[in-house]
Amino acid sequence: MKRQKIIAGNWKMYKTAKEAVHFIQQLQKLIPSSKARILLAVPFTALTAAAEAAHTTSFAIGAQNVHEAVEGPYTGEISAHMLKEAGAKFTLIGHSERRRLFHESNLLIHQKIKRALSSGLTPILCVGETLVERSDGATEAVLAEQLEEGLGELSLDQLAHLVIAYEPVWAIGTGKSASPQVADEAHLLCRNFIAKKWGSAAAEQLPILYGGSVKAENAAELLNQPNVDGALVGGASLDPAAFAQIIQSVG
Ligand code: 13P
Repeated sequence: MKRQKIIAGNWKMYKTAKEAVHFIQQLQKLIPSSKARILLAVPFTALTAAAEAAHTTSFAIGAQNVHEAVEGPYTGEISAHMLKEAGAKFTLIGHSERRRLFHESNLLIHQKIKRALSSGLTPILCVGETLVERSDGATEAVLAEQLEEGLGELSLDQLAHLVIAYEPVWAIGTGKSASPQVADEAHLLCRNFIAKKWGSAAAEQLPILYGGSVKAENAAELLNQPNVDGALVGGASLDPAAFAQIIQSVG
């Protein structure tokens, strides 16, 4: 089975609701149809407007984070149910910026994944090693730990609703993307980990996206790798023309 390519934008803390609507209108003009699935992870405050604007498009709107509890006294937090009602179809979980700046642990990330799944949101689990971990030869161990603790004992059915994003921390926002070979090797490590625990059929159907300085210039080569099923794009997803070029590089 050939996995459909996914091109996802992560807007981080950029764009108001108005700006999101404008972006979606622009992108629709540039990309009236595509072979790829197009996802936009927008700020919470832009979700409703973005989902409405995307209603007549094939773009799916999602969030960048979710709280692990159903509801409760968690000032400033957002629940999966709230995201769903606002029109989110998916949520990023465990982005390296959340791990590093907001101290998210693998165990917390696991709880968030279960909450997203039980609410009908597709979790996009982000994993990836730092530069020090890579130069210490610890990439495989780090990815295995993030996957082992992040995924826990999910069922095969739950795994069928999951997406993984490999985002080496050293490539995020640095302009230095992983080479296509380095990306493919890391994706294969992730896929092999899944195959060992859940079987090769589950591993074969699991989409694994690459993130870290993806731009129009390097997208095609990265997306051509056998284990790279798409891209999670930060900076270059903020401009409709730049993002459209990346989408168009899906062959
Ligand atoms: P950049 O594409 O800006 O490197 O960001 C990648 C990223 O963090 C996507 O989640």
